[in-house]
Amino acid sequence: MQLFNVVLSLALLASSVLAQSTQLLLPRPGSKLTGGSSITVQIGMGGYPENIDNVALVIGLSQCHGGQCDPASSFLGNVLYQGVYTPIRGQYYANYTVKVPQYFTGKASLNVLNLFLVGAEYEPIVDYLNETVTVV
Ligand SMILES: *[C@@H]1O[C@H](CO)[C@@H](O)[C@H](O)[C@H]1NC(C)=O
Ligand SMILES: *[C@@H]1O[C@H](CO)[C@@H](O)[C@H](O)[C@H]1NC(C)=O
Repeated sequence: MQLFNVVLSLALLASSVLAQSTQLLLPRPGSKLTGGSSITVQIGMGGYPENIDNVALVIGLSQCHGGQCDPASSFLGNVLYQGVYTPIRGQYYANYTVKVPQYFTGKASLNVLNLFLVGAEYEPIVDYLNETVTVV
């Protein structure tokens, strides 16, 4: 019973850590994007109990080939935005308006890299996110 409680609380801890990492909120996976158009990419990050020092956020789009998409940790693709994650005041997200490259077509992977430092000892964390979209 005691072991079960420990396992349960570890599981809860793991899920809350997960909720606090970077999230790709918009566009939704599977969205149809128009080549050459501007879209809103919404990035979220939960409230950390410790100090967070945001260092670098990169949003990229990479064309998938033969249905194969590369994960964000391998290729970011065309860099659509590069800067620092800065949430809207009082919110846990930020909006980035980026342009879908005109010449993209078909399945593509929307990729995010977020590098930040946590706590007094500046533990470095890199989150990689990707989702598949279709450029029409
Ligand atoms: C962020 O983008 C979403 C989706 O376009 C929009 O609903 C929301 O109002 C935007 N937030 C701000 C603060 O601009
Ligand atoms: C990210 O890309 C990898 C490799 O293509 C894929 O296995 C994984 O399912 C993708 N994740 C999401 C959320 O699309």
